[in-house]
Amino acid sequence: MTQHLTGRTALVTGATSGIGAAIARTLGAAGAHVLVTGRDAGRGALVVDDIRKAGGSAGFEAVDLAAGADDLRAFAGRALSAAGGNLDILVNNAAVYPVGPTATMNDADTAGLLAVNVLAPHILVGALVPAMAERGHGTVVTVGSWMASVGTAYTALYSATKAAVEHLTRCWAAEYGPRGVRINTVSPGVTLTPGNEAHRPLLDQMTAATPAGRVAQPEDIARAVAFLVGDDARMIHGATLAVDGGITATRPS
Ligand SMILES: NC(=O)c1ccc[n+]([C@@H]2O[C@H](COP(=O)([O-])OP(=O)(O)OC[C@H]3O[C@@H](n4cnc5c(N)ncnc54)[C@H](OP(=O)(O)O)[C@@H]3O)[C@@H](O)[C@H]2O)c1
Repeated sequence: MTQHLTGRTALVTGATSGIGAAIARTLGAAGAHVLVTGRDAGRGALVVDDIRKAGGSAGFEAVDLAAGADDLRAFAGRALSAAGGNLDILVNNAAVYPVGPTATMNDADTAGLLAVNVLAPHILVGALVPAMAERGHGTVVTVGSWMASVGTAYTALYSATKAAVEHLTRCWAAEYGPRGVRINTVSPGVTLTPGNEAHRPLLDQMTAATPAGRVAQPEDIARAVAFLVGDDARMIHGATLAVDGGITATRPS
């Protein structure tokens, strides 16, 4: 990993597990100071330790992204202070994924899906990106999902939240891109994480006939994020980069 993010500060939501932890480690290895965030301080401390042991720089900031707009704006303020007043990179990675038949989804789950997956990125972008725009540079990546591109039974609202962040990304690119802030989505395919490893046989079955022929690892997604937030991606605005082993682009023949 090149040190192409040296001198930059990055906030990663949902960095205490899975894809977010891999993004935090990868941005740390690329030279960024990383704010690891999530609810679980114990798992957060492990990720911070990993980054420091690898020679990088990191800290932890606790947040419950479902806590409401005022709490999230207060968190954004704390995170900005912890970043030394300047945040260069925001990665909206955290999400929840309760699924099931539409008729039996409970109200708490549907509210949580909207709060964590859609409203939290919207509030954090509103709270943190204007300062990037004032300085004339910054990058945001929001983590979407292959499920935004195809209809799958029993995932309706989760998939719709991921379609929502893809389109928020396009609108934010139009809003902030002219002032120097690049905003994109990375759209993972089926990726093995602590959140789904109990279903490994199903994941293997879902990916067996894709071009990649296997599940993704969190690091596969993290490398794409590290590319998009770096200067090599300077002409990429409002894009959705599929890192999905070809599951959305192809059909088995
Ligand atoms: N794994 C896949 O196959 C796959 C495929 C496509 C897209 N994705 C997307 O990739 C991203 C990461 O997924 P993952 O599989 O790595 O999930 P994961 O292992 O379950 O991790 C989810 C992360 O989100 C955080 N989080 C959840 N609710 C939160 C809340 N209320 N407040 C603050 N943080 C919260 C968790 O932190 P705490 O527990 O510490 O709060 C955790 O760090 C998500 O956006 C997901 O939709 C995953």
